[in-house]
Amino acid sequence: MTRASDSGTRSRLETKPLLAALRGEVMAPPPIWLMRQAGRYLPEYRALRAETGSFMDLCLDPESAAEVTMQPIRRFGFDAAILFSDILMIPHGLGQRVRFEEGQGPVLEALKGPPDLARLSLEGLEDRLSPVYAALRLLRGRLPAATSLIGFAGAPWTVASYMIEGGSSRDYAQSHRWMAAEPAGFARLIEMLVEATARHLSDQVEAGAEALQIFDSWAGALEEPLRRRWCLEPTAAIVRRLQARHPAVPIILFPRLAGALYADYAALPGVAALSLDSGLDRGWAKRVLRPRVALQGNLDPAVLVTGGPALTRAVRGILADFGDGPFVFNLGHGILPETPIDHVEALIAQVRSARP
Ligand code: CP3
Repeated sequence: MTRASDSGTRSRLETKPLLAALRGEVMAPPPIWLMRQAGRYLPEYRALRAETGSFMDLCLDPESAAEVTMQPIRRFGFDAAILFSDILMIPHGLGQRVRFEEGQGPVLEALKGPPDLARLSLEGLEDRLSPVYAALRLLRGRLPAATSLIGFAGAPWTVASYMIEGGSSRDYAQSHRWMAAEPAGFARLIEMLVEATARHLSDQVEAGAEALQIFDSWAGALEEPLRRRWCLEPTAAIVRRLQARHPAVPIILFPRLAGALYADYAALPGVAALSLDSGLDRGWAKRVLRPRVALQGNLDPAVLVTGGPALTRAVRGILADFGDGPFVFNLGHGILPETPIDHVEALIAQVRSARP
């Protein structure tokens, strides 16, 4: 493990704190960014969203996507900007119709069975997603020098669940039915997503992303051995492909609610960090995961809504548990729309006042 101070002329200011932590350096204070840091809790986001047509239009207009990405950077000075986009850009890139309904979330033209895979195609992927890469190229020139640019995608299982269920789901019943009744067809969908996701992430790096995060938000919805087969293995295949193409780009994995399987994610070659959900035991994470990867997380987004002494206590606990190793402060899941702005300000002040 190297430290910034070992490298002679490279001062802390010349090093991007997020990239340093992901390389294994112990930073005090640790870098901080928040999942879904651009979004409805920001009045400037709500204003721009009201002006732009649909959520998809916002994601697919490079100037708007770059502007929304910058909003939380300007307001809070986070250590990383995460490209404003969505994990459902991949189904869009494959030719599935995706829209977002007010108050309902995403609506997709559901895949009813393997024959519907014929409606999807990897051919036009890069063309359909080209506005995403244009947004990254715009951001490269706009970010402060110490701010890192994160690209992202959903993991195959989480994305497949939206493609099959046609939107958010409580029970993933149709996906389970595919897995059980049509395992070869389900495997073909997952393989197509591995290919699309590896290409999409690689193209984001070529457009300027300096680190990548893969969101498997619904990893917790599958039990073993399905979690290993449909969450871990496809993610490992994507990581292998990215490693081969871009060995220097750090990869953060977020297999939310994957429990003990987090240890298998930590063992994958080429993974820089794991993003921990709020329920994961920090003592276990420190013992089992930290010898292999940097840790990111894991403040409960609901505690950020609560604020006050509960927030202070939670932040102190996380810093005490993780602050002595390579660490990135973050939430355990996306920020909630009802989060008060002054709670985010208080959080950043508390994290930034952390001393070695
Ligand atoms: O973190 C960031 O600031 C970058 C942007 C980002 C968005 N979605 C913007 C968004 C990221 C990283 C995502 C990831 C994403 N999208 C995930 C994985 C992370 C997670 O939270 O579990 C998932 C499951 C999705 C799919 C998705 N997108 C859903 C289910 C919804 C509807 C629910 C909701 O929160 O509204 C979205 C919409 C969405 N994606 C919004 C934003 C800011 C809200 C859209 C609006 O303005 O109405």
